[in-house]
Amino acid sequence: MTLIFSGMQPTRQLHLGNYLGALKNWVKLQHDAQAIFCVVDMHAMTIAHDPETLRSNIREVAAAYIAAGIDPEKNILFNQSAVPGHAELNWILTCHTPLGWLNRMTQFKEKAGKQKDNAVLGLYAYPVLMAADILLYKATHVPVGEDQKQHLELARDIAGAFNRYYKADDFFPLPEPQILGEATRVMSLRDGTKKMSKSDESEYSRINLTDDADTIALKIRKAKTDPEPLPSAAEGLEGRPEAANLVTIYAALSDTTKAAVLSEFGGQQFSAFKGALADLAVARLAPIAGEMNRLLGDRAELDRLLKRGAERAGEIAGRTMNEVKDLVGLVRF
Ligand code: TYM
Repeated sequence: MTLIFSGMQPTRQLHLGNYLGALKNWVKLQHDAQAIFCVVDMHAMTIAHDPETLRSNIREVAAAYIAAGIDPEKNILFNQSAVPGHAELNWILTCHTPLGWLNRMTQFKEKAGKQKDNAVLGLYAYPVLMAADILLYKATHVPVGEDQKQHLELARDIAGAFNRYYKADDFFPLPEPQILGEATRVMSLRDGTKKMSKSDESEYSRINLTDDADTIALKIRKAKTDPEPLPSAAEGLEGRPEAANLVTIYAALSDTTKAAVLSEFGGQQFSAFKGALADLAVARLAPIAGEMNRLLGDRAELDRLLKRGAERAGEIAGRTMNEVKDLVGLVRF
């Protein structure tokens, strides 16, 4: 059986990279399989955070999922900390994860920077919690952006190590990454060689899902480009990271290919293309922001949906945890 699991951290605002690399694909995939979409709030504690901001970000990310088109009745939508199995399985999996595997994780190195000794243990162990998120539901498919590929390989390695250790073939399925669409790695609008990210200091590096029409248009107008006109074929984008990024964003937002975008805009100057891109981005994103606002205006209803999601997730998680506890030799009553 196919079971999809994915999640986003409620740290700062969601941006176009989160939307095109993940959320937009989830909306498509939800029709074909059972799917569980999680707001991974415990992951958001691995960096410095303010409790009140975290609380409001959790609801904001849940609202973004629904506003983008995730159906909270058909799918399971909840926040990670509401299901204790995530933390329980995390511990058990940490006991099966060699330090050498974690030492290879590039995202830890990037996030911890030069201050490795001051980085917290949670940041280092973060990918194990991510593996626990997925394996707790025995998920088979995980739709994510390209930056999560290494974490998913680790989740597969941990699942395999666990299955072998307890001689329980296929207990945890090895989860398949689903890295889909044209925009698997959306880049910064200020530097086409850097990933679009929540942590970039420059607000102009990213488009947030909640930006209004004027802000979106301004950020696209200010986006870095080169002086050449757009090429007519995708090969012409090589060595032009900023141009490639804007064309990729256009293709993903309009559900077409880079080749199709270039056959329409090839030979034109960026000023014309940026205008079309701004119109497209506003048309696609403004309704999401509007719906998010509406959902956030009825907090009781949003909390009711999250609570119901956590109960449904908790049933599956509880079954897995009973099996896991029996397998590893714990006593339960
Ligand atoms: P997070 O919160 O950083 O990002 C959420 C999703 O957005 C994708 N993404 C991007 N895609 C394309 N271009 C970009 N510039 C870009 N930036 C972010 C990410 O790949 C991700 O799919 N570790 C995860 C959260 C997580 C998780 C999980 C995911 C925790 N447990 C279990 C899947 C399954 C993370 O930090 O994503």
